[in-house]
Amino acid sequence: MNTLTQAIEEIVRAAGSMMRDAFNDPDKPAYSLKGRQDYLTVTDGAVERFVRAEIERRFPGDAVLGEEDGGAVNAQRLWIVDPIDGTANFARQIPHFCISLGLLVEGRLEAGAIYEPMHDELFIAQRGQGAWCNGERMHVSELAELPAATMEIGWSARLPAAPYLALVLRGMEAGCSVRRAGSGALGLAYVAAGRSEAYAEAHINAWDVAAGLLLVEEAGGRVNDFWTPEALSQGNPVLATNQRLAAELSVLTGIDLK
Ligand code: IPD
Repeated sequence: MNTLTQAIEEIVRAAGSMMRDAFNDPDKPAYSLKGRQDYLTVTDGAVERFVRAEIERRFPGDAVLGEEDGGAVNAQRLWIVDPIDGTANFARQIPHFCISLGLLVEGRLEAGAIYEPMHDELFIAQRGQGAWCNGERMHVSELAELPAATMEIGWSARLPAAPYLALVLRGMEAGCSVRRAGSGALGLAYVAAGRSEAYAEAHINAWDVAAGLLLVEEAGGRVNDFWTPEALSQGNPVLATNQRLAAELSVLTGIDLK
């Protein structure tokens, strides 16, 4: 642990405790919809404001891009925050959501963390230093057969249903257990932790993946080249896998790996 990862851990843990308090409040978090199946709670905004203030205080001069309030897309040092990933779960009292915070330096992920407050799980990585879950080194799974594999396939109302359903069908016909748990960030963290073999989604935003992609790489897995010039403003497809199923899952999803 160094000063950078220490700061990241402190920020995401404090943010996570704001989320936990709101989730456990007898007045359940009120929600509104930004669009079809696109949930928003007051806690999303409050957590993002807290994280922005912490970054400004601890790393003056660094830029921030967040899901709720937007921000810079071409800074040399850019923090990318999703205050609550899995907002629909949070709003509906399903304890599967997290904060994701990543640091992109000159277009490359340098460090990041995902904190899941309801099970007190901290997933953290720094480039070249490995990926860790609550102090234990993470490694992607060694599983090599699709009929034993689990693949999470994310979905949002941003894209039509048919290609999603076609991918689910291909995955199931290949023998995978296909799931969708509603948090892309945690989906990536679970690949890093060896709890599933892959996370795929045809379109996802930068704040959903800015920590998770580094977690998977540092845990020995494979990811696609997400950080194209338009990734920060428009998002991209995402695929993260273990090593042994990487080639098959790249073909199955139609997403190239680095
Ligand atoms: C969404 C979740 C979902 C993924 C979507 C994201 P949000 O983020 O990560 O699992 O499939 O692409 O937009 O709205 O919960 O922050």
